[in-house]
Amino acid sequence: MNVHDTPGKAATLSYAGKEPQLPVRSGTLGPDVIDVGRLYRETDCFTYDPGFTSTANCSSRITYIDGDAGVLLYRGYPIDELSDQSNFLETCYLLLYGELPNASEFKEFEQTITRHTMVHEQMTRFFTGFRRDAHPMAIMVGIVGALSAFYHDSTDINDPKQRMIASHRMIAKMPTIAAMAFKYSVGQPFIYPRNDLDYSSNFLQMCFAVPCEPYRIDPVLTKALDRIFILHADHEQNASTSTVRLAGSSGANPFACIAAGIACLWGPAHGGANEAALDMLEEIGTVDRIPEYIKRAKDKDDPFRLMGFGHRVYKNYDPRAKVMQETCHEVLDNLGVKNEPLLQVAMELERIALEDEYFIEKKLYPNVDFYSGITLRAMGFPTSMFTVLFAVARTVGWIAQWKEMIEDPEQRIGRPRQLYIGPDKRSFVELGQR
Ligand code: SDX
Repeated sequence: MNVHDTPGKAATLSYAGKEPQLPVRSGTLGPDVIDVGRLYRETDCFTYDPGFTSTANCSSRITYIDGDAGVLLYRGYPIDELSDQSNFLETCYLLLYGELPNASEFKEFEQTITRHTMVHEQMTRFFTGFRRDAHPMAIMVGIVGALSAFYHDSTDINDPKQRMIASHRMIAKMPTIAAMAFKYSVGQPFIYPRNDLDYSSNFLQMCFAVPCEPYRIDPVLTKALDRIFILHADHEQNASTSTVRLAGSSGANPFACIAAGIACLWGPAHGGANEAALDMLEEIGTVDRIPEYIKRAKDKDDPFRLMGFGHRVYKNYDPRAKVMQETCHEVLDNLGVKNEPLLQVAMELERIALEDEYFIEKKLYPNVDFYSGITLRAMGFPTSMFTVLFAVARTVGWIAQWKEMIEDPEQRIGRPRQLYIGPDKRSFVELGQR
C-alpha cells in the first residue's frame, strides 16, 4: 500500500485568520493521520507534542499495535500465533522481508545468519579494556558501535546489498557479543558459536557452556528463550526504534544506529524496566509488603513507580505479558522452582494492582517486562543481562525499521523544531559589569 492523501478527507485548522486545509491519510489499520507538513509554511506555527503522544513520525508496514484492544501484529500476524507456532529466526525473516519464508527460503536464511555469527577475533581485545563489573549494556553500546570499524563492506547505506549484509550481520552477531559480555563479567572464557545449533540454543551454549565439559541443550529453555525473543522482536515506533530511525536519517552507518538504539533501550522507563522490575520485586521481598509499595506507586510526591506496569500505547493488557507469564510458569515448573518467592510476589502484586482503582482508572497493566525478569533469572541470567537479551531480540526490529526508513521515499533527515521559552535577545555584559 502506498501512502497517499485520502480523497475527500481533509482537516481544516482555523487560527489567526488562516484556515489551512490539511490532508488526511488513512492506513490499512489504526487511526488516520493529519499531514501537518505544510502547517508552518501556512500558519507560521509548529505543532507541539512532547513525548509524541499524538504524533506519527513515519508510515510503516512492519508492526501494528492497537493499545485499546491489546493487539500486536508483526507484518499482520498476531504475536500469540507467532510465539506459539513460529520460531525467532523465522520471525526475523518475516520482519525483514515482509512474508513468512517457505522451506527453501528459511533454509537459505538460516545458513546465511549462521555463517555470520562469529565476530572479528580482534574484537575480543576491546573487552579487556572494561572493568569486570562493567554493566553489560555499557559493553554492548561500545562493541556494537565498534563493528563499523571492522565491516567496511556493509556500511554504504545506499547500496541495497550492503544494507542486507549489515542486517544479517547484526542479527547474527548480537547473540555472540551479548554472550561475550556475559562471559567477561563472570571471568569465564568466551565460547564460540556453533553452526550445528539453532539460534537460541547457540546463544544459551555461548552463555552457559564451559570448555571443561559438554553442554546439554535443554529444549524447554531453548523454546522459552526463542519465544521471549519473538515477543521482544519489534514494537512499532518505541523510543529505541525511533532513536535508530533518527540516527539513520542522517546517513549514519547501521552499526552506529543500532548502538544508539541499545543506548536508548537501556533506560529503566524502556528496556531497562525488566531489570528494574526484578530489582523492585526483590526490594518488596514478601507478599505482606506489597500494600506499602502500591501506596508509594500512587503517591505523587514519591518518584517510585511499579516497574513492569503501564505503557504508552497499551491501555489494556499487553498481549506479550500474557505469553510471558505462561512462559514464566513453564520455565519455573521445568526447573522445579515453581514456588519461587518472587513469582508469588509478582502474581500477588499483579492481582492487587489490577483490583486497585488507581491502576484501573489510569489503565496500568503489566507489560512485557513484568514477568520476563523472573523467567530470565530462573534460566541463570543475572539481572544485569536482562536488557541485553531485550537488545538481542529487538535488533531485528531496529534493523528492519532502519531499512524501511532508508528505502522510504518520504524520509529525510529528522529535524524537529521547538517552542523557545528562553531569554529574549540581549547584549553581552563585560565581566567587570556583572
Ligand atoms: C517498554 O513503547 C514501547 O513500545 C516500549 C516497549 C517496547 O516493546 O519497545 O513496550 C517496551 O518499554 C515497556 C514499558 C516498560 N517500562 C516500565 O515498566 C516502567 C514503568 N512504567 C512507566 O514508567 C510508564 O508507564 C511508561 C514509561 C511505560 C509509560 O509512560 P507514559 O505513557 O508517559 O505514561 P505517564 O508516565 O504519563 O503515566 C500516566 C499516569 C501518570 O499519572 P498522572 O501524571 O496522570 O497522575 O500513570 C502513572 C503516571 O504517574 N503511571 C504509573 C506507572 N506508569 C504510569 N504509576 C505507577 N506505576 C507505574 N508503572
